[in-house]
Amino acid sequence: MPEYQENSIIDSIDRLAESFYRLSLRAPRIASAARPGQFVMVSCGPFLDPLLRRPFSIHRCNGSDTLQLLIRVVGRGTELLARCRPGQNLNLIGPLGHGFNPPAAKTPICLIGGGIGIAPLLFWAERLEPPERCTVLLGSRTGEELIQLAAGFRDLGCRVEIATDDGSLGHHGLVTDLLAAHLPATAKAYACGPMPMMAAVAQICRDAKVACEVSLEAHMACGLGACLGCTVHGTGNRYLHVCKNGPVVNAEEVAWQR
Ligand SMILES: Cc1cc2nc3c(=O)[nH]c(=O)nc-3n(C[C@H](O)[C@H](O)[C@H](O)COP(=O)(O)OP(=O)(O)OC[C@H]3O[C@@H](n4cnc5c(N)ncnc54)[C@H](O)[C@@H]3O)c2cc1C
Ligand code: FES
Repeated sequence: MPEYQENSIIDSIDRLAESFYRLSLRAPRIASAARPGQFVMVSCGPFLDPLLRRPFSIHRCNGSDTLQLLIRVVGRGTELLARCRPGQNLNLIGPLGHGFNPPAAKTPICLIGGGIGIAPLLFWAERLEPPERCTVLLGSRTGEELIQLAAGFRDLGCRVEIATDDGSLGHHGLVTDLLAAHLPATAKAYACGPMPMMAAVAQICRDAKVACEVSLEAHMACGLGACLGCTVHGTGNRYLHVCKNGPVVNAEEVAWQR
């Protein structure tokens, strides 16, 4: 699969919620090669601090010249990204990793996203024909973080259900509370979010005998398979290197209990 280093140009940056930002970037080589579930390594500023690039899922992509990233500010690198302005350059490497594998044609699909893990699911929903077959379950701390993201899925024609930790929107509780009711009418599930959420999704899908793919999270220093820092325990005493074997893997490949 082609990978490029590209100096992208920021088209726009929008604040969606207190610490959520959406960056639109012009990066034609990466945008034309990107597949849903893949990520880019981003150099967060022009200086040496922070030294390492940061991994971000491709949130949306028009397939020709523009892609979007959804950024939650958690530290130095993401803070710098949130302060960027249109016209600035951001150096990217991508598209990287294995993305989502397609389901059988026209079968009903469930997408489950928790927090910033929602980021890659919109790109995936845009490519799933027809998007009306997707039920999307979104969870977050507060409703504010979900309003605009949920609208993106609804605009495609997906059915959306919401769960929030503080009860400010939708179900008051965990997004996984919503899942079991949908599985009898689901052929395949795709999840991205915190590891405990994905472990719960994997278990619920296993119990219901529904195939499930997850997009794993791990600290990444290189994103290219060189540092071996992004290891997750796999089944059968294997190690999964998230940047190369993933980030998307079959849920059955992960040793969730370790
Ligand atoms: C494949 C992949 C896709 C990702 N996609 C997105 C995305 O679309 N949007 C987004 O906002 N973030 C995404 N992340 C997480 C993002 O890379 C980190 O939040 C970012 O690197 C933090 O950089 P920082 O310098 O701001 O924070 P740091 O100062 O490096 O860290 C701040 C805090 O965040 C924690 N942290 C840092 N990296 C990770 C990580 N990879 N997983 C869990 N916790 C972490 C640290 O332990 C620390 O507590 C993704 C991570 C991976 C591996
Ligand atoms: S991040 Fe370096 S090997 Fe995966």
